[in-house]
Amino acid sequence: MTQTPDNRLWLTAEHTKQYLQRAGSMPHREEGEAALLEFVPPKAGRILDLGTGGGRLMQIVRGAHPSARFVGLDFSPPMLETLRKQFGADPNISIATHDMARELPPLGPFDCVVSSFAIHHLTHERKRALYGEIYGVLAPGGVFLNLERVASPSEALHDQFLRATGLTRETEDPENILATVDAQVGWLREIGFADADCHWKWRELALFGGVRPGGAA
Ligand SMILES: C[S@@+](CC[C@H](N)C(=O)[O-])C[C@H]1O[C@@H](n2cnc3c(N)ncnc32)[C@H](O)[C@@H]1O
Repeated sequence: MTQTPDNRLWLTAEHTKQYLQRAGSMPHREEGEAALLEFVPPKAGRILDLGTGGGRLMQIVRGAHPSARFVGLDFSPPMLETLRKQFGADPNISIATHDMARELPPLGPFDCVVSSFAIHHLTHERKRALYGEIYGVLAPGGVFLNLERVASPSEALHDQFLRATGLTRETEDPENILATVDAQVGWLREIGFADADCHWKWRELALFGGVRPGGAA
């Protein structure tokens, strides 16, 4: 698949509105979100949500960790506006404007970094570099969790995924740059994450992540 870092559609009001309207209807998504919650450290005090969009994942994680402080990061003005309307007055939520195509700004340390369906818009090279930066902002024992759209290992399986989700090659997001879960878990291991694994998967939806070693047992 051609890799392009030019994911400008997310900067438009129309694209973000369409996404927010159908986000809840993605099949099996809630299973992945529930699996993600299982891996958030029980005492996580600071949590970063990369590509937070309208804050769907942040809200889910906050429901289970109401006293945690969150940073939601995104680069889309319409998404950030939605986020500010919903969470702008919440003292436990900070909003960071940043393009993940560039190195993360100084924000850390965090006990947990989460992301849902955002990092697959970056080139593979940038994905891998970002995973290294995530490792860098995690406190020892901190956990990275990425609920993500991943590549099928074959064209036939990709077509099956599209059919199962009501998409076609014409209607799927042209700005997806999908990598296999195997490749991405491999990158996490190379970076030094412990317990790097795919924790849950349904076709092209996967939850994977790892732990920065060194925390208290
Ligand atoms: C499919 S939406 C997911 C939003 C949210 N995480 C959720 O699960 O509902 C993808 C999000 O990633 C953000 N995004 C895409 N590329 C980005 C980039 N280079 N830097 C920061 N955010 C980006 C988009 O603006 C959008 O909010």
